[in-house]
This record gives sequence, C-alpha cells and structure tokens, in this order.
Amino acid sequence: MAAEPLNSAARAAMEQLNAEAERTGLHIWLRTQANAPAQRSWFHDRGLEAGGALAQGRVGANQMKAAPHHWNWQEISPYLDRIGEIARAADVSPIEFADRQQFLLVNPGLAGRLQVASTIRCAVSIYNPGDVAPVHMHTPNASRTILSENGGYTTIEGERCVAARGDLILTPNGTWHDHGNDGATPVVWADILDFPLLEFLDCSWIDDEFPGERESNARAQKPVHADGYSDRLYGRGGMLPGFVSHSRGIGRDTSPIFHYCGIDIRAALDALRAEAGDPYEGVTLRFVNPATGASVFPTLDYGAQLLRPGEATGWKRETANAFYIVLDGEGTTELAGRRFDWQTNDLFIVPNFLWRRHINRGRKDAVLYLCSDRPLFEKIGQYRAQGRSPDGDVVQLTE
Ligand SMILES: [Fe+2]
Repeated sequence: MAAEPLNSAARAAMEQLNAEAERTGLHIWLRTQANAPAQRSWFHDRGLEAGGALAQGRVGANQMKAAPHHWNWQEISPYLDRIGEIARAADVSPIEFADRQQFLLVNPGLAGRLQVASTIRCAVSIYNPGDVAPVHMHTPNASRTILSENGGYTTIEGERCVAARGDLILTPNGTWHDHGNDGATPVVWADILDFPLLEFLDCSWIDDEFPGERESNARAQKPVHADGYSDRLYGRGGMLPGFVSHSRGIGRDTSPIFHYCGIDIRAALDALRAEAGDPYEGVTLRFVNPATGASVFPTLDYGAQLLRPGEATGWKRETANAFYIVLDGEGTTELAGRRFDWQTNDLFIVPNFLWRRHINRGRKDAVLYLCSDRPLFEKIGQYRAQGRSPDGDVVQLTE
C-alpha cells in the first residue's frame, strides 16, 4: 500500500524546489516520493477486497491501474444500432468517416485510454450487409469473437473463414486479412487485440498494400485455399501434416489455425462436463498453436470455460489480466469486493493482482470465453498465481 503523504515543511520545500527545477526546462525531477505501486503486497495477505492505492502527488498523477469493470450488453448494444443507422444514412462510406463501425471499451481506471487492461484492447463492431473492411496487415495480434448468428467472413492469408455465433477468428500479427458481411443481417463481433502493448513498445504499424491477387471488388484478397483449410490441416488433435511449415504470414510464434467454430468449442466443453475440472476455473479448454502447444499468440492466450449450474470456483488471483466474454448462461463474478452479475454477451475485465471467483447462478451451463495476457507475463518471468483453499488459506499455484 502507498504510504500516507508526509505532511511536513521539508516535503513542501522539496515540492517547491521541484517546481523550480521544472521551470528550468532541464527535464529532471527531484525525488519527493517513491513511485509506489498500485498493488498490494503479494505474500502478506490483506484479504479479498482492497485493491491497493495509487501513489500521490506529481508521480502519482501519471500512475494508473486498470479497474475491475463489467460492460452490460443490454446497456451498450443499442449504440451498435445507432452507429449502424448513421452509417446507413451517411453520404460517404462508413469506412471513410470512421474506419470501422464500432465502439471501444474504455477501462475507467485508465484515464480514457482505449483499452480494457494494460495490454488488451476490445472493440465491439457491427458490419451491415455489404460492408467490407479492406485487406491489410498489422503488428498487433487480433481476434474476433462472433456475437451475432450471422458471422460474416474473414479471409486470412488466403483462407476464407465463414463464421457464426460463438466462433473465434484469429488474425495473427503479420497476416493479410479482410472482413465483410455478405449476408442479409448485421454482423456483430468483439475484437480483442494486444494493441496497447504494441503502442507502448512503439511498434504499431499497419500496411494496406497487399501484393497478391484481389477479388473483383479490389478491396479483398482472393482466397487461395479451399474453405476449411485450417480444419483440414489441424482439425485432428495430435496429428500434424508434415508438408507445411506451420508458419503463416510474416509474424512468428503465432498459431496456423485461424478459425475455431463455436459449435466445436461447445461440443468439446460438453464432452468434458462430467470431469471434475479445475477448482479455480471449472472445465476449461485452451486454444493452442497445434505445432507447439503454446498460446495462439506470443502475447495472448485464449480459452473457453464451462461452469455448471450452481458451480462456484475458488478464489484466485494472478499477475496477468483476464478479459471475459459471456457466451451463454448467467452468473456472478466477485472481484476485489465488487460483484458483477453477468448474462449472455456481457464483457468484463479481471485486472491483475485482484482476487476473483466465478459463480454460475443460472439453471443451465454457463460458457465464458477468456483472453489473458498470461503468455506475456510468463515470457518476462512475471507470471504468478495464488488461490484460496476452502478454509481460506492462501495457496501458491505457481512455483
Ligand atoms: Fe486488422
């Protein structure tokens, strides 16, 4: 916890001297306080609720901590219709006035930044019939989780993926991709990206000069594989084709599978529902790079979890952030003294270091999709997790 600010003449003098130093334009700062972290200590348990305090004063002015937050679909989704109405009546193509028809989720702890956590951005997009997002590639890794029944299509590295509700489509960094809606009803999906991380690293670029053959509309790439390519190559667990490199696009360490079908995800979860599952997560599946078993992106891990009626997970906290989309069911996530009651299509963020547990309060199974930046934390040697046993003892879940 940050110490209470010291109320002393010495401190006031230091602040005054600091203000003078600032006016010199020398770009120095006289230390008047520690840059106290927002989080509580890791080993000294202070209970389930408090989330730590930000530093005070000039240093603290720039310090931020992602807040727990829940976006209620009933409240936010009308804005998609309103965006769609403006786009339909517009005198120019929507791509020209807004680039995309979407709203981005803004974490209330991050001073208006377009991100839900330190590394994760989420936008909710609507594509009206006929809309096309032209072919491009970029450094952020991206995904879309389809929320409407009609999922439109995304073509990635020459593979056209026609999607439906519950599908997860991956567009790894360095892959050419374009999207569109050639159906009769609007398409709605949630885009998740590691955009804030790439921005922080000053490594965010986008390119739209696709060098390959285009469709007749000139905005989309022409498919070079028959539909279902990912599934034909990698759709049988434990068997890999020996004649391809498993690397697609110019990115590295990304999954060659671009399309997970919602019905397959649900069938796989249902097949496991009689198993005990994990005491802190329920029945879970991770989507992995089939060639390596690693996360689908070097930075982000995707998964799905099933909570059976009445199931309550144990309390857990991690050094990584977890962003959830509710695909089915209703329940509650208790998080750092707050309670989020969620239902279908709601989205919520569990920022790192905060205790949380999930409870299925409905009469049917609940399914959550999860995106976590755990792989990044693991790569930098900072992934840790703790749980609480039923009698309240803190258990180290990682070495
Ligand atoms: Fe993109």
